[in-house]
Amino acid sequence: MTRANWDQKSTIQKVKEEYEKREPALQASYDRLLSAIKEKISDIQKQGPKYIPECDYTAIEENDGQVPKELLERVKETGCLVIHNVIPREEVLQRKEEIKEYWYGNQERTGAKARGVMNALGLFKLREHPNLFKCITAANLMWHDSKGDTEWCPTKPMLYIDGCRIREPGTEGGMFAHVDSGGIERWWHPEYKKCYQAVWDGKWEELDSYDVSYRTTSVLPTNKLFRAFQGWVAMSEAGVDKGTIRLCPMVKEGTAYYLLKQLLDKEMKAWPTVHSMSLRDELFPLINEGLVTIPDVQPGDFVLWHCDLGHSVEFTHNGDQDSSVAYIGASPMCPMNAEYLVRQKETFRQGGKGPDFVERDGDLGPEENFTEGRPTADDLSDIGKKMMGLAPYEISSQDDEKTRAVTEKCNKILGF
Ligand SMILES: [Fe+2]
Repeated sequence: MTRANWDQKSTIQKVKEEYEKREPALQASYDRLLSAIKEKISDIQKQGPKYIPECDYTAIEENDGQVPKELLERVKETGCLVIHNVIPREEVLQRKEEIKEYWYGNQERTGAKARGVMNALGLFKLREHPNLFKCITAANLMWHDSKGDTEWCPTKPMLYIDGCRIREPGTEGGMFAHVDSGGIERWWHPEYKKCYQAVWDGKWEELDSYDVSYRTTSVLPTNKLFRAFQGWVAMSEAGVDKGTIRLCPMVKEGTAYYLLKQLLDKEMKAWPTVHSMSLRDELFPLINEGLVTIPDVQPGDFVLWHCDLGHSVEFTHNGDQDSSVAYIGASPMCPMNAEYLVRQKETFRQGGKGPDFVERDGDLGPEENFTEGRPTADDLSDIGKKMMGLAPYEISSQDDEKTRAVTEKCNKILGF
């Protein structure tokens, strides 16, 4: 199903009918939720950016490539993490120059006015950086498989090609609160809605936002690659009032809130479409009250936020330098993601945006016509090739039986 032939009206009708009979239980659950959420918001507002957990890259290294134990619960509860000093500052600034050169050089030649550069070699150098690979793996490892038979492998990440933002001081920009990784699919998609079963059962307290079951089998109309976390690498300093991201750091409560309010608030007539979901203040005020700007970051820091987490981008940028990021999320290996990589390899070969973006926009984007410096598979490192599905992940002696089977299956999907 593509966006174009998707019947929103009948889908909304079906969703309403399905949940109507559960209304009393859902309302009771929602009432409990509201008091829990208000307590959280008051904590968040008291602490400000400090509420968002942070650590240094060395702490991940020292904990055998995992999020430090003393931070783990906090990260899971908030749904976000800032990891400092992942890639050396000078290296990142160099990559930013390379991205600009590739973009603006070609833009002059092609006349394209676009912002969503996706294929600059400088971007790939960040995406395939070994330290970043470790952080992505650490993020994937926060998830678990409650069913036990989910085909996935957190230590063999797959890359979702996304763009970057280079925002000059004083420029307009910003985004209202929203959540990505789908819109109405959360209520309607036969597999995806199972991720939120506890909420539908009127037991929001039992929602496990880190259960990978059903995430890897939810083939959505858009967002066809499962991203455990969205994320970006800072390519400049950023912080309060410098045109950067704000997060609503209460993943379980936030998710239950937007799912239930949409169903129960009769004043709300509009439903999200597919692709993503607006969480604007007039619709979801408590998400907006919970938004807090990330703590200060420097070039080379990595910011991660859960795929269900509400976020926005500041409309003001009063810093004196650019505010720049390279969007790089964390995604595990799974057959669904491998299928996406099959298509992504092709759009990459053509110089296009990632398949989700091609589908959304209906074209490959201006990079298709770039003549200078467009990378090919040969320009990527071994890590880069594996994350892109351009080379197979090896089966290691430490892999258990399931990991071996999943790796073999994914390699086969990718043509190896
Ligand atoms: Fe977003």
